[in-house]
Amino acid sequence: MKFLTAYATTEGQTQKIARFCADQLTDSGHSVELLNLADDGEIDILRFDAVILAGSIHIGHYQKSLENFVTANLRDLNQRNTLFLSVSLAAAGHEEEDRMGLEHCIDVFAKATGWVPNRIEHIAGAFRFTSYDFFRYWAMRWIASQKEDEPVDPHKDKEYTDWDGLAAMLEDWSSGVQQQGSQA
Ligand SMILES: Cc1cc2nc3c(=O)[nH]c(=O)nc-3n(C[C@H](O)[C@H](O)[C@H](O)COP(=O)(O)O)c2cc1C
Repeated sequence: MKFLTAYATTEGQTQKIARFCADQLTDSGHSVELLNLADDGEIDILRFDAVILAGSIHIGHYQKSLENFVTANLRDLNQRNTLFLSVSLAAAGHEEEDRMGLEHCIDVFAKATGWVPNRIEHIAGAFRFTSYDFFRYWAMRWIASQKEDEPVDPHKDKEYTDWDGLAAMLEDWSSGVQQQGSQA
């Protein structure tokens, strides 16, 4: 099958996640196009059997490039099986407040774009202290200091992405897409 994996990233973790998905699908024998929405947002969605879109949350919002891409391609996206990967640090949290915050971000995005993906998955991202600018570093250092369950060293990057969980979810979603394709 032919998959499109398009992503928006600010510090690079969503790019790593999108690449991981593209590699796994390719290893399973599928054809995959990996598209960084910051480079090029022009593509014919209908060339693909299914689409993964990934973006990360910064101060409650996904990247503008992701929103623009979804808005511009809404009609075609609605004709394909779609998976939305929402990357954030709240996805690594265990509090009800984290879950509600994420639902709110999804609602705001859905209202802005009109897109209802077939499946939405919250993927835990990363602290990338070694690449933040001055202001981001101190803002993120403060956020890290609020994590009471697990101390975070602000001198090292810290990844929360559950790669095995992501692989299992992707396998589940892509087999569903294949089954639908063979029944069509
Ligand atoms: C300035 C800034 C603001 C952020 N705001 C949020 C937020 O509102 N909610 C959240 O859960 N995570 C937030 N994060 C965490 C990012 O979603 C997380 O670091 C993610 O891995 C970033 O993905 P990227 O590297 O692909 O941009 C923020 C990170 C930064 C640097």
